[in-house]
Amino acid sequence: MIITPQIQGCVARNCHPIGCRAAVQQQIASVRAAGPFNGPKRVLVLGASSGFGLASRIALTFGAGADTIGISFERGPSDKGLGSAGWYNNIWFRQAAEQAGRIAINLIGDAFSDTMRQQAIETIRQQLGQVDLVIYSLASGIRVLADGTQVRSVLKTTGQPFSGWGLDLERDALVQQSLAPATPEEIRDTVTVMGGEDWQLWLQALQQADCLAPGAQTVAYSYIGPESTYPLYRDGTIGYAKEHLHATAETINLQLAQIGGHAWVSVCKALVTKASAYIPVLPVYLGLLMGVMKERGVHEGCIEQMQRLFAGKMYGPNGVVADGNRLIRMDDHELDPAIQAAVSALWPKVTPDNFHALGDFAGLRRDFMQLNGFELTGVDYGAPVDVASLTELIP
Ligand code: NAI
Ligand code: NA
Repeated sequence: MIITPQIQGCVARNCHPIGCRAAVQQQIASVRAAGPFNGPKRVLVLGASSGFGLASRIALTFGAGADTIGISFERGPSDKGLGSAGWYNNIWFRQAAEQAGRIAINLIGDAFSDTMRQQAIETIRQQLGQVDLVIYSLASGIRVLADGTQVRSVLKTTGQPFSGWGLDLERDALVQQSLAPATPEEIRDTVTVMGGEDWQLWLQALQQADCLAPGAQTVAYSYIGPESTYPLYRDGTIGYAKEHLHATAETINLQLAQIGGHAWVSVCKALVTKASAYIPVLPVYLGLLMGVMKERGVHEGCIEQMQRLFAGKMYGPNGVVADGNRLIRMDDHELDPAIQAAVSALWPKVTPDNFHALGDFAGLRRDFMQLNGFELTGVDYGAPVDVASLTELIP
């Protein structure tokens, strides 16, 4: 079978499993090139199969020799298709980690459920004893509560409606997009799905089960962004959820004091992932930002961000480098005033005819395709993929 990309709007409908392997290998090579660092040896990653979670796992295993348990919600092969990119990322990561002599276990299922918490606790006890670090990197549009209630997050603004050019990845074109103001219920629901409550439930359960090593740390990923994006993000429903996440870091930190541990939030830079491509209007900011940051030689992808987070700002010579609010600022380069001034000068000039000339939308598009295993160098996309052998792989 020859696999060609199927993109619908801002969502990839398929993936190229062999290309996903090349993408995981590229990330491993980048971590190896950056050199080893003295990091945690036993790590639990929630949201391990793509984006920042996958990059974290790769950085810690191949940079610091960590054994990991990764939890994710992914689809395997079925009569509906070959399965999701994250499904294959899990498989290729595990194979590479095991080849390097590391433990890598993938748990597939709903991380919001108590069943998964129990499964993780049992797996930690059997395989790792305890963990030194818990990474919270879930991005989801829905959370099923313990009583079965389904809560959905929305991507809306608050106050006034906001509209602007958005990116249609399917047609490589700009389209008008708008964000309506959320109702109070929509804000509350988005906080329930993407805020800190579930993070806290995880740390409570792990601590009660004695699965956290003395001095264990936890970090969750957040975004703030520049003022120009506040209507899209910080003052939007997702921004409220992130505020809740930041506040929860204080609560978890108090709880972890019992074992000498700490909770942090890493405020990351804007990057192309499955989750961020879906936020209205934001990808236009992202394309402009990528252009400016590449021009100035400070661009980072997911793997470079996570390598710098762990090697430089969490487990480096100065220990954890955070501000007074428990925030580790990985968005330092993005928020550099010179970079933001350059982006802000370009943004009002963007039209459907000139956007490719003003920003790095080709780079953004390539990153998006590569998340799904397409457009990687060294992969022969003309060669048929052996579906039968892929179907036999288990996470
Ligand atoms: P992603 O979509 O690449 O990864 C999300 C992960 O969560 C996947 O591994 C997925 O399988 C897992 N997941 C989703 N629902 C699940 C469930 N019910 N049970 C188990 N696993 C589940 O997203 P990305 O961008 O890596 O996001 C991770 C975190 O980083 C989010 O909190 C996001 O807000 C944050 N972040 C993202 C930025 C960006 O520009 N992409 C910037 C700053 C922060
Ligand atoms: Na992730």
